[in-house]
Amino acid sequence: MRTQKIAFIGGGNMAGSLIGGLVADGYDPAYITACDPDRTKLDQLQAGYGIQGSDDNSAAIGQADAVVLAVKPQVLKEVAESVATAVQSRRPLVVSIAAGVREADLQRWLGGEVALVRSMPNTPAMIQAGATVLHATAGVSERQRGLAESVLRAVGLTLWVEDEMQLDAVTALSGSGPAYFFLIMEAMEEAGIGLGLSPDKARLLTLQTALGAARMAMESSDSPAVLRARVTSPGGTTERALDTLEKGGIRGLFSQALKDARDRSQELSTLLGNH
Ligand SMILES: NC(=O)c1ccc[n+]([C@@H]2O[C@H](COP(=O)([O-])OP(=O)(O)OC[C@H]3O[C@@H](n4cnc5c(N)ncnc54)[C@H](OP(=O)(O)O)[C@@H]3O)[C@@H](O)[C@H]2O)c1
Repeated sequence: MRTQKIAFIGGGNMAGSLIGGLVADGYDPAYITACDPDRTKLDQLQAGYGIQGSDDNSAAIGQADAVVLAVKPQVLKEVAESVATAVQSRRPLVVSIAAGVREADLQRWLGGEVALVRSMPNTPAMIQAGATVLHATAGVSERQRGLAESVLRAVGLTLWVEDEMQLDAVTALSGSGPAYFFLIMEAMEEAGIGLGLSPDKARLLTLQTALGAARMAMESSDSPAVLRARVTSPGGTTERALDTLEKGGIRGLFSQALKDARDRSQELSTLLGNH
């Protein structure tokens, strides 16, 4: 598996994180090529990780066992169509990390019958704390599944879904999710300042509390509901605060927010497929 040649098409933020994660994980950089029109980005990736750089997408694909499409969704159609001949003649595994681009559209742009894995990472992948969900098309072998998973596992947790449609729900939950937590942090920080804490203390206490709660929830075999009940003494301060949040409709708000994000994900996918 570790001698499979991987070509990244697009050498931006996510490709840099994935390459960094793979190399830190022991993947031989000699087997990794990054393609980008920007020579400066390639030089940085080459200097940082010892990988190969190229400005010729098709030539890199011609040598690759796996191709990671890491360009912006808006340019993916143009990029995919420009490398379709190389993909059809080499027949590598293709892994797309582009948000919202459906497999049927990508297959059409690449000429069809490609072993394709579509994935949805999220921004904490930049610090190797991502959550990525993958979906494989029928032509993907077990070995190729393993290769796709090892690329994305280099930047965090990976999960598979059997139904591509679930990627819209995933986009609403983990794809957009970091921003929900940032909003909660903002709100708690502002509330702390409102109670008279200094801004730097309010921020630090908010962030450390978020980190501590997330780590406790990850490390415990109990559900968040059980953990919450355990720190909520009857008649205490936490209970009073949680009552206010429940009465304010926090669960209904999250339910509606995620439905809205899921619907927007579906709309954007249709737009990307038609453009
Ligand atoms: N960043 C995230 O947190 C995140 C999360 C989930 C999914 N994703 C997905 O990851 C993908 C990449 O995102 P990103 O944030 O890494 O974007 P990015 O930093 O803009 O990287 C994309 C790179 O592709 C290059 N590029 C453009 N046209 C190209 C071509 N024809 N051939 C080769 N390279 C080309 C771009 O160069 P120029 O800048 O010169 O155009 C840029 O360096 C997107 O599809 C996004 O949906 C990202």
